[in-house]
Amino acid sequence: MKVIETIEEMKQLRSHLTEPVGFVPTMGYLHAGHLSLVRQARIDNPSVVVSIFVNPTQFGPQEDFDRYPRDPERDLAMLDKEKSDIVFMPPAAEMYPPGFNSWVEVGKVTERLEGVHRPGHFRGVTTVVAKLFNIVQPTRAYFGQKDAQQVVVVKKMVADLDMSLEVVALPTVREPDGLAMSSRNTCLNPEERQAALVLYQALRLAEELHAQRETDADRIRREMTSLIQQQPLVNIDYVSIADTKTLDELDTVSPPTLVSLAVRIGKTRLIDNVVLE
Ligand code: PAJ
Repeated sequence: MKVIETIEEMKQLRSHLTEPVGFVPTMGYLHAGHLSLVRQARIDNPSVVVSIFVNPTQFGPQEDFDRYPRDPERDLAMLDKEKSDIVFMPPAAEMYPPGFNSWVEVGKVTERLEGVHRPGHFRGVTTVVAKLFNIVQPTRAYFGQKDAQQVVVVKKMVADLDMSLEVVALPTVREPDGLAMSSRNTCLNPEERQAALVLYQALRLAEELHAQRETDADRIRREMTSLIQQQPLVNIDYVSIADTKTLDELDTVSPPTLVSLAVRIGKTRLIDNVVLE
């Protein structure tokens, strides 16, 4: 496994990789969710590139960029085990040198959900992902359904800008008790970790109501909201029932429907979702 820090060297090595090339962009502090993407990339492609870059432009000024967990040595040991060929780990100044001043912006689908609560977040995501795609030139790029809106936004960028790669979305990997794996889970104290279970419970409630043929989206939103509100440590940013492609809020559930939520627990912000089929 080669660890690369410069764009020039990454491009140089890329030209010698056997096609097709699978690519997994990450911000590091890896867990089983990230590794599921690397494993699928390994199955689908003879060459696998993983990037580790905590992208400053996707964090707002009040957000947790400085607090975001980092452990590159541990990450590299995990990726070595998964047999990644290349780990691209650029310093911030390599990706954003002085004078950097170009941005990739996707329209409407970035204004919903996370976009309301994290203005500018998706501009940072699409800019860094477009740069990474240009540098790595993958055949396929792997993303987690855990960040459902990110998948929609990246697919829209790839389609609208005629990028020549396939975006593969893979299921959310969960802890045994249902909490979606996230690098940010390590920021929770034991009491907050317990309270965080309510995210999955609320999503399960939506699935149960849907199984009982409930189609009134507002009733499902209200039931989920009142369940979450029973947890005093948890503050809701949104509970959404939306179209999986446009992310428009729905009055009536019409599968496939994205049920997603975002909450704050102490200083930690968590998101999760399920798709009603
Ligand atoms: P990060 O949060 O590190 O996530 C990297 C990839 O792992 C994303 O595609 C994310 O959806 C996926 N992932 C995270 N938790 C997962 C889980 N529990 N199950 C399955 N997949 C999971 O998402 C980012 O980084 C950044 O925005 C990035 C795309 C790298 C751009 O900076």
